[in-house]
Amino acid sequence: MAGATQHAHWSSKWAFMLAAVGSAVGLGNIWKFPYEAGQGGGGAFVLVYLIFVFVIGVPMLVAELSLGRRGQMSPINSMAKIAREEGRNPLWSLIGWSGVVGAFIVISFYSVVGGWTLAYMAKSAMGAFSGITAEASQATFLGYISDPVMTIVSHVAFMGITIFIVAKGVQGGLEKAVTLLMPALFALLLILVLYSAFNGDFVTTLDFLFNPDFDQLFYKETVLASGEVTRHFSLDTVLQALGQSFFSLSLALGSIMTYGSYLRRDVNLGKSAVIIASADSAVALMAGLAIFPIVFAYGLDVGQGGGLVFMTLPIAFGQMPLGGLVGTLFFALLAVAAVTSAISLLEPPVSYVAEKTSMSRRKVAITMGVAAGLLGVLSAYSQGSNLLSDVRIFGVNIMDAKDFLTNNIMMPLAGMFTALFVGWFVSRKAMMDELALEDRSFRIWYFLVRFVSPIAVGVIFVKIIFDTIAG
Ligand code: PHE
Repeated sequence: MAGATQHAHWSSKWAFMLAAVGSAVGLGNIWKFPYEAGQGGGGAFVLVYLIFVFVIGVPMLVAELSLGRRGQMSPINSMAKIAREEGRNPLWSLIGWSGVVGAFIVISFYSVVGGWTLAYMAKSAMGAFSGITAEASQATFLGYISDPVMTIVSHVAFMGITIFIVAKGVQGGLEKAVTLLMPALFALLLILVLYSAFNGDFVTTLDFLFNPDFDQLFYKETVLASGEVTRHFSLDTVLQALGQSFFSLSLALGSIMTYGSYLRRDVNLGKSAVIIASADSAVALMAGLAIFPIVFAYGLDVGQGGGLVFMTLPIAFGQMPLGGLVGTLFFALLAVAAVTSAISLLEPPVSYVAEKTSMSRRKVAITMGVAAGLLGVLSAYSQGSNLLSDVRIFGVNIMDAKDFLTNNIMMPLAGMFTALFVGWFVSRKAMMDELALEDRSFRIWYFLVRFVSPIAVGVIFVKIIFDTIAG
């Protein structure tokens, strides 16, 4: 039965684009981007972020898609196959391993936060935020993440949805889900932006997001013990923007490489990468346009970090007309975005194990999903004052430790080696052949991927390691 074992393919370019945009658009855009922009001073962060997306992110997307399509297998076997074809060291397949293992770790805690979005959708629908005060909102969030039963119920629900979709395969599961969910996501987002434009402080938001104050980008203020405020030069925000651009484009975790492996030769990778990056940035900006008008109109704190969406926004939902409905729609949007990213995180490990064993895809999806789910329980229990919140790994809780390992170590290393591999260890001719770009575009891409990407990513990595050792 050759047909049954043959590697799956997308049924159309459109299906691939929806799936890739679905992978890119996730909690990173709607939860992380607004709070990072808020902490990074708004416009300047946004501008630098966009530059990174297009100068470093797009070439990296092209690199990963091309490796996946050339390999036509899971990231591990694709990397091994291409290294063999190019007469290179088999150890290059470690890039694939890092992606597959990294994606497995990330899905384990991504699903926990995905569960929060489901729980908050339900809370909002049941009117839990009506008239809520800032203290009560904070207490609600802390109470929820500290609850050993509720956090697991929502984590299991979210992981269950993800497994269900992945189990059904590329065309029957992934494609069907994204064709349904992506239009719903865009519609929800548009409704929320319009709502905020008419009911929130849109003018302040536009100024905040699009009028860069570069001082905020390069200087950090520290309050000394004496109460005196000092300013010093710092690249933290710039590096944060670079890291965020990688995460938001789903780079360096094997997801994009796996989606590339389901592509046929007739898709133009350069054009696809530009569309994916544009759609991803557009959603991040629209999320900002939906959230900040409410934050400003209700006098809430823009720089309050990870709690912005779960602790701050409910206060506004509780006060505004139709707030229960708007809040429910908002968390539904977040849940949809998270699900289409989660399937792309479960996909790399599933594609590898399905290749390696004779188990059916369904069985593999369930096995890997349940295993990641169990690992995720540790993350869920590490939050608030939940059962394992006292456990410290190198000084941080379990969820933060997994985030640090993947986001700060595995992803920068995998990203840097991917760029080096494609730029220096695969023949120029093979890449020209794979990309089929016109001469000038190819030269620009080749320059970016050989020099700019590895150096930029290398710098982040060194800085992270330096900060960790110094701190
Ligand atoms: N890009 C997704 C987001 O913004 C997260 C993700 C990262 C998904 C890496 C897959 C791979 O939430």
